[in-house]
Amino acid sequence: MITGQWLAVLPSIAVPAQTPVAVVIGELPVVLFRDADAAVRALLDRCPHRRVPLSLGKVVNGALRCAYHGWSFAGENGRCTDIPNVGKENGVPASFCVDAYPTHECDGLIYVWIAPTPSGPLPLPRAADPAAAVTQFGHGNAAISYEHYRAVLLDGPELIFDIPGVRFTDFYLGDAELRHGKMVFECEAEWGSAHRPAKVKVTDRPLILRTELSAEHDQVIFRLLSTANAELGCLELHFTRGPRSTTHYCWRYTQTSRHLTGRPWRQKWLTLNSPAIRVHNRHDGGDIAKLLVGPSANYNDLIAPAAATRQEN
Ligand code: FES
Repeated sequence: MITGQWLAVLPSIAVPAQTPVAVVIGELPVVLFRDADAAVRALLDRCPHRRVPLSLGKVVNGALRCAYHGWSFAGENGRCTDIPNVGKENGVPASFCVDAYPTHECDGLIYVWIAPTPSGPLPLPRAADPAAAVTQFGHGNAAISYEHYRAVLLDGPELIFDIPGVRFTDFYLGDAELRHGKMVFECEAEWGSAHRPAKVKVTDRPLILRTELSAEHDQVIFRLLSTANAELGCLELHFTRGPRSTTHYCWRYTQTSRHLTGRPWRQKWLTLNSPAIRVHNRHDGGDIAKLLVGPSANYNDLIAPAAATRQEN
């Protein structure tokens, strides 16, 4: 079971009113839904009566009603509040309940703590969020293990996501280092297609991709910067272990202008109808196999001890 951190599991927009949504965290099935106050609630996705997934049910009067025999459960504590055909005068035994997990919504993402009581601070809203002209959210499941997904994030981010019109390179600006509990490194980037290098030989690249991998959370932040250190775009990507060696991820991307500041006219034209970012949910095993080992080699030395401490707590 994944404990010791607030896990960002879905964007807020993925959990509409009235409709429960299933998500698997580690091996744990969880159902998310909104109660009568539109607050997100998280319960074990298994009815205590006959083990049917509660996510097959529906939200009625702010409680989650099981699809099979209609028992209803309160989101805040998992208590069964109603059993059809049982007279109100008989009440519902307090032992009829399902595990409930604390939740928190922040900056368009839903966080869950997989234990009855959180023992860590709430995720902070983004400080000094630049006026975002573009904000995108997404989530999915990658068919590679958590450890391999993390290594690909570090060594080949172009296999995880692309910003149309921007090409990441493997020209690193120094070694990865530990800064404020994060493993941080930078590489150069240029205007161009992710898959088609610029035709002219480029020696002066106008962009930087900074990678910040947190030791405290399963989270990595990619910042696209100008060489003057101005932030043009920021991808916050959370990833957690999924079942059967998969990885669940959820992300938010903000961009300071619709067309990245400084983007050449040709690139603007070529990317006119493209989304600001594409986070891939299919990954080519051949590309991953060919990926050279890069900054992931520093993971064990730089932040693995801190990450291990967090998982033990
Ligand atoms: S299985 Fe859920 S109420 Fe019976």
